[in-house]
Amino acid sequence: MPEKIGWERKDLLGLEDLSKEEIELILNTAESFKEVSERPVKKVPALRGKTVVNLFFESSTRTRTSFELAAKRLSADIVNIAIQASSVSKGETFKDTAKNIEAMKINIIIMRHSASGAPHMLARVVKSSVINAGDGSHEHPTQALLDMFTIKQRKGKIKGLKVSIIGDITHSRVARSNIWGLKKLGAEVTVCGPKTLIPLGIEKLGVKVTYSLKEALDDADAVNILRIQHERQQSGLFPSLREYVNKFGINRDTLQYAKKDLIIMHPGPINRGVELTSEVADGPYSVILDQVTNGIAVRMAVLYLIAQRRA
Ligand code: CP
Repeated sequence: MPEKIGWERKDLLGLEDLSKEEIELILNTAESFKEVSERPVKKVPALRGKTVVNLFFESSTRTRTSFELAAKRLSADIVNIAIQASSVSKGETFKDTAKNIEAMKINIIIMRHSASGAPHMLARVVKSSVINAGDGSHEHPTQALLDMFTIKQRKGKIKGLKVSIIGDITHSRVARSNIWGLKKLGAEVTVCGPKTLIPLGIEKLGVKVTYSLKEALDDADAVNILRIQHERQQSGLFPSLREYVNKFGINRDTLQYAKKDLIIMHPGPINRGVELTSEVADGPYSVILDQVTNGIAVRMAVLYLIAQRRA
């Protein structure tokens, strides 16, 4: 169990607001929770008596399940609200739904929403803590934290490493949170993808931009491959999936440019044969399932720190 607590925030809404020290505190706390999931009895009493609510307005496999397991392994009570079967479908406002849930004396709400800024609005109207589980194309802080945890576990450090993020940067909350977090911890970050899927002026965040996959892979220590969201193709932001695969798809041939100890990450869900081949997803460079495993320790750390905060 971690001994020294230095977390004072009510909410975790994004990595843009966090200091390097706060990010390191989460990663170090996650380190001490990792072994709980290796025990025969995967439970510690840290959050006994606390109630956590999963409020997901968008679908999720990894994040929702990972938060649920993290809460249960900390001995919290957790409730999953099925939005389709809730009174939201009868026209209840988002704010009323949140206020009613809070009236049941809960402690933490974990929220995913398609609108950027929705968890921030929730955090202003409820006294409970709010954790952002992905808001529109804005941030997905716990995903970036588990990505950084995985890099640190594999490479022993983050400072000075070269990390490339490949794909649809414009619409990716994973990319944005990774950029904030990795830059704060001293990594060199490159973004790579079609020109139409890289926001103008992103260099201002301190990242390098390339439209060449070879350049992005060349001396990278880690790459984070983003899911191509098919709806973007319909909006005409790139000509065809075949062209995307040809220019930016990761396969055995493109990896000839990579370092031998490169690690390949993907937040999931994967489009096999699009952003990467099955051979790569399941191959020796891939740490994709390690990311999922690490997600539980990272989310245990976030829940623990928020529940124990001093403020
Ligand atoms: N990485 C991630 O957010 O996956 P889910 O959409 O399954 O939660």
